[in-house]
Amino acid sequence: MTKPMLFTPITLRGLTLKNRVVIAPMCQYSAIDGLANDWHFAHLAKFAMGGAAAVLTEAAAVQERGRITHGDLGIWSDAHAEALKPVVAFIRTQGAAPGIQLGHAGRKASMQRPWFGNGPLGAEDEARGDTPWTVNGASAIPLAEGWLTPVEMTARDIAKLVENFVAATRRSNAAGFEFIELHGAHGYLIQSFLSPLSNRRTDKWGGDLAGRMKLALDIAWAVREAWPKEKPLFFRISSIDGIEGGWEIEDSVALCHELKRIGVDVIDCSSMGNSAGGATANPMARGAGFQTPFSKRIRAETGIATQAVGLILDGPMAEEVLQDGRSDLIAIGREALYDPFWAHHQAREMGVEGYDAWPEQYGWWLERREGAIRRINENPDGRKLPAA
Ligand SMILES: Cc1cc2nc3c(=O)[nH]c(=O)nc-3n(C[C@H](O)[C@H](O)[C@H](O)COP(=O)(O)O)c2cc1C
Repeated sequence: MTKPMLFTPITLRGLTLKNRVVIAPMCQYSAIDGLANDWHFAHLAKFAMGGAAAVLTEAAAVQERGRITHGDLGIWSDAHAEALKPVVAFIRTQGAAPGIQLGHAGRKASMQRPWFGNGPLGAEDEARGDTPWTVNGASAIPLAEGWLTPVEMTARDIAKLVENFVAATRRSNAAGFEFIELHGAHGYLIQSFLSPLSNRRTDKWGGDLAGRMKLALDIAWAVREAWPKEKPLFFRISSIDGIEGGWEIEDSVALCHELKRIGVDVIDCSSMGNSAGGATANPMARGAGFQTPFSKRIRAETGIATQAVGLILDGPMAEEVLQDGRSDLIAIGREALYDPFWAHHQAREMGVEGYDAWPEQYGWWLERREGAIRRINENPDGRKLPAA
């Protein structure tokens, strides 16, 4: 039997990932002043122990005002990078590659943590200490009625933003990250420039597709220049807005051609989010692997490597995605929250690895646990408790 592709390595520039499983970026809304703490360590460390080849942090804001909520990670100062160093180092000890997602929330900044409503910050939040702040955007168009109207970014704001992405890139390198993902999806700042729904500018950062793509490409170019040549760069897109008159898959293909030319290595194919109702709200049905047709098309038409994401539930399903040429990598989000050892569990169930592949602190015991459980299950009375 040939080894499932899911558990074969892949090399991107100077980085070899031991398998195709990447932990998707997942905001924890648990940072104070943007600084990583014990929660972030525990959250990310267990995915590396769990067998994933790469672990992405949640979106880290390149500017303080670029956070979605008060609880987001940031990387706008050296202290932020310093706070991430322990978890970066730990992930590496497990043979996994630590990656950081760099982003700016744009008009979707100043939001409530999901469990406080997932809408714009208001008076009730302020009473709790979560004060709203002024948000920036491509144009002065709010996400929806009742949301903050962003201040349209000036040429100077844009120049500063690109500088901040570059500074964040240097800090990410200093912290030891092995790859960067730029967050160009879900209606946050970069994507809000891409989409005609949120970008009505008439200057060089707006208008036709080339104008709307300019900010994304400028940032990708500047980050690529500042990021070591041997380290890969990922870019997450919203493949479609899913709204009439919005960003379409053909636009994504055009963008990815340009990103490839700049030296982006992987396109992480998400979708939607440029409207109210949650980070990735949309009218599209969300079935198993619902976004994989996008990653397949982008991969086929541009020749760039892609990462598929979204309701990819188990190893066999992930394998089908890879075998069908839909992507080169598989990002796992909520399944990993449910089972941080997802990669090890799937590899075991697919007959690829034994417990020797697990951290040795666990593997030795799990081998013996399995024998004990087998003996219990083989005995018809094995599950009966002894008389007491
Ligand atoms: C708790 C949580 C936080 C998320 N935060 C981010 C984020 O910081 N950046 C991002 O691009 N996507 C974020 N997402 C989206 C995930 O990366 C992923 O695309 C989505 O959950 C679909 O994959 P899944 O079905 O495997 O969970 C988040 C998702 C969850 C569940």
